[in-house]
Amino acid sequence: MRVSSRIVAEILLLLNDLAQPGVTTLDLNDFADAEAVRRGSKSAFKGYSGYKYALCCSINDQVIHGLPSKRRLVSGDILSVDFGVLKDGYYGDAALTIPVGTISDSARRLLSVTKDSLVTAIEYARPGNRLSDISNAVQVYVESRGYSVVRDFVGHGIGRNLHESPQIPNYGPPGKGVRLKAGMVLAIEPMINQHGHAVTVLDDGWTTVTTDGGLSAHFEHTVAVTEHGPDILTKL
Ligand code: MF3
Ligand code: CO
Repeated sequence: MRVSSRIVAEILLLLNDLAQPGVTTLDLNDFADAEAVRRGSKSAFKGYSGYKYALCCSINDQVIHGLPSKRRLVSGDILSVDFGVLKDGYYGDAALTIPVGTISDSARRLLSVTKDSLVTAIEYARPGNRLSDISNAVQVYVESRGYSVVRDFVGHGIGRNLHESPQIPNYGPPGKGVRLKAGMVLAIEPMINQHGHAVTVLDDGWTTVTTDGGLSAHFEHTVAVTEHGPDILTKL
């Protein structure tokens, strides 16, 4: 899982630089797909539940599962890229929201709060804690700063499958759910909206947007629970 997660991190770092005004999200998809193969791995998403792409590219009010297309990025966009690979039987999965060109102050604030909510929550991925301590940490961090937590999609365990139990909501009271143990690996992934938490899935069956049209951001890491604390396997 360290190996697959490292590949994901490397490719996301390259995408972070490539996501400039004028580039299409299909260009980014094809790049990520080829880079995964070049590293002896393959996309975790292509073929998953009928998904046809290696990458999810969600722009502005798109929350998750945006489909790569010929749409060109423009300065001011925020682009959430979500990527996973399978290497030697194990999965890695991560996401980040990239500012394209120059973005507004309000967009910048959303990105920084979403990223910091993930960093804060990861600190709770320690033996002896309960699963929902992670969930609660995201919710408290985000809501105290005036944003809202998407309810309809959650993080997940990860390993020999992309999605394993437990589900990891980004909201809820602390002290509930399974007790965390060294050796567990979790994909923690806050999806945070500027305004209301409601989301709508478009007719393509995938693209998930904010119902009110506000911006949304998404950061995700694959994190191992160890005796020494959280180990971020997809750290960039
Ligand atoms: N990346 C998503 C996750 O973080 C899963 C993508 S769904 C897929 O769990 F169909 F695109 F694979
Ligand atoms: Co995930």
